[in-house]
Amino acid sequence: MNIPFSPPYIDKDVLDEVLDTLQSGWITTGPKVKALEKLAAEIAGVQHALCVNSWTSGAMLVLKWLGVKKGDEVIIPAYTYAATALAVIHADATPVMVDVQDDFTINPEALKTAITPATKAVITVDIAGWPCNYDTIKKVLQEESHQFIADNQVQQQLGKPLLMADAAHSFGAVYKNKPASLAADITVFSLHAVKNITTAEGGVIALNLPKPFDNDTIYKWMRLNAMNGQTADALTKTQKGNWRYDIVSDGLKINLTDVCAAIGLAQMRKYKAKLLPERKRIFNHYSKFFGNKSWAILPPAIDAERESSYHLYLLRIKAISEAQRDKIIQLVADAGAAVNVHFVPLPMLTLFKNLGYNIDLYPQAYSNYHNEISLPIYSQLTDEQCTFIEEQIEKAFNAVVK
Ligand SMILES: Cc1ncc(COP(=O)(O)O)c(C=O)c1O
Repeated sequence: MNIPFSPPYIDKDVLDEVLDTLQSGWITTGPKVKALEKLAAEIAGVQHALCVNSWTSGAMLVLKWLGVKKGDEVIIPAYTYAATALAVIHADATPVMVDVQDDFTINPEALKTAITPATKAVITVDIAGWPCNYDTIKKVLQEESHQFIADNQVQQQLGKPLLMADAAHSFGAVYKNKPASLAADITVFSLHAVKNITTAEGGVIALNLPKPFDNDTIYKWMRLNAMNGQTADALTKTQKGNWRYDIVSDGLKINLTDVCAAIGLAQMRKYKAKLLPERKRIFNHYSKFFGNKSWAILPPAIDAERESSYHLYLLRIKAISEAQRDKIIQLVADAGAAVNVHFVPLPMLTLFKNLGYNIDLYPQAYSNYHNEISLPIYSQLTDEQCTFIEEQIEKAFNAVVK
């Protein structure tokens, strides 16, 4: 067998949509991006969604809108991909890392103690597609709102730190019978090549700001500032007589192209009916097998309040060391199946170590990481391939541990 970890889903509809774009005479931001925004907004349950060229750039734009600057703090979990912290660093602010819970999501008690008058935002991460406990997190933010100091009009209107969901993994996840994106003020999805829906590289900012914010005005501000702060986009300028434009702010240049949007558009049309249920099938296949193994710790997928988007299967193995975990991964790879680790906690990475972060302060993040093996989930994966992966994990476990 040769089972890759996360090949993109490219069927005839994707090829047709891309070809249609290439032949249309317009390949950068235009009608395909608009159509993708409409569909993404529908699935996310919001009125306004802006497509950008990555999760990272989308998060940077959100922090720019919030007016985050040097000396400000943004709280993030220590257990995430580096981009969550890098977006904060790019905004010139300080990422304040807090520990996570056994289910990989940010620990609300640790969050509470990390809030200071310098806290301007909290970025929660729905790891592997599993939504955070948003009600508890919102309660904490409300309780600590007396500490909040507003530095500009946006922050004044908010009256508390912004709750931004890093939903890089969780497009389509559910929280309290609604799209999970309705739980945070702003939710940013990733459309990177390995994500549930991809545009090769890309991201979506879903706006859900409470009244008196006008999400339509914010969408327009973000669209302008995703394109150099230019008043007329390239497509509008190509229309006869429409050449005039102005630059009204120091915007970023992070717009998504139509040719990339076409990939995601074709995928997204079949997400709810086909691609997401297929991911669930694979997740449940793994859970059925590993649920019978006394040595396995299963990842969460569904409870009374939440349902995952089944992005990854974060299997953990009881009572093994990091070295034993690595050996199991190598044996499974040698047998022909790619498995992975999500993630190395940020304080263990060189950049963050050099900035003074220390993994000893995040014991749960280390505990979750040291015995974790991510199993692949994608709709092309057959039941036979799932069985092969399961058997190889068990075989490798027996070889390494018994
Ligand atoms: C949790 C998390 N946040 C953010 C990102 C960054 O996404 P992008 O590559 O679209 O910037 C990723 C990408 O892997 C991720 O896993």
